[in-house]
Amino acid sequence: MTIESVAALLRDAKHVLVFTGAGVSAESGVPTFRSDANALWREVDIRNFAYPDGYRRNQPDAWRWYGQRAAKVREVMPNAAHEAIAEIERRVPEFLLVTQNIDNLHQRAGSKKVLELHGNLREARCFDCDARSPWVADPVCEACGGLLRPDVVMFEEELPAGAMEQAREAAESCDLLLSVGTSNLVWPATEVPRYALRSGADVVIINPDMSGQPTGLRVTYLKGAAGAILPELVRIAYANL
Ligand code: OAD
Repeated sequence: MTIESVAALLRDAKHVLVFTGAGVSAESGVPTFRSDANALWREVDIRNFAYPDGYRRNQPDAWRWYGQRAAKVREVMPNAAHEAIAEIERRVPEFLLVTQNIDNLHQRAGSKKVLELHGNLREARCFDCDARSPWVADPVCEACGGLLRPDVVMFEEELPAGAMEQAREAAESCDLLLSVGTSNLVWPATEVPRYALRSGADVVIINPDMSGQPTGLRVTYLKGAAGAILPELVRIAYANL
């Protein structure tokens, strides 16, 4: 399918789900987890940063590392892909953005209906009492003295209550799902496009690298950078409207 045909699907869709991963923020200068040379899980040992036990053992380094990432994502700016997704939301009758990203760039670009599956780096929270905290120098909870951590989902942890149920409901009732910038490797998020496919929606994958992506009769691949493809898609879909 060409970008023009996908644009026609988008223009006609009544219910759109956009599903995003780290690649949508790559052009803002946020490193991905797996896909580039300086990808985060190549730079650090995932066990010492992204698993609760490893995080506890690896103090204060792990706290500082997340604090630096939180500062970095505040410094960078949303890119043309984030902006195009916010524009789709304004045009489509029913819309949900399901993101695995924790960088807050979608919200900063104007997206309103955002379901975060993996939390957000905006704040820290206490491992013990769950109290929220700003990014202070030492990882000590003001309320109870417990260990602070980023307010993100680590491996082996549950997703926020109800998040997958809400994502599933939207995926099963949308007509079009755009999957942008995700390697689609991390469960349970990886189920989201599958729910849409099983319910008969069209699924469009926007990514420079199609390895490991869902396949099927209703899957279309638009190969390339999100910051180039999404604005073009929006421009064609809503031209002369
Ligand atoms: P990954 O790093 O696994 O994948 C990034 C994807 O973005 C790859 O498929 C790249 O090909 C693609 N990509 C790179 N540049 C792009 C661009 N300019 N435009 C479009 N796509 C581009 O990141 P995620 O799929 O988000 O979880 O990873 C999923 C989860 O794994 C993350 O939420 C995080 C991580 O461990 C937790 O921390 C729980």
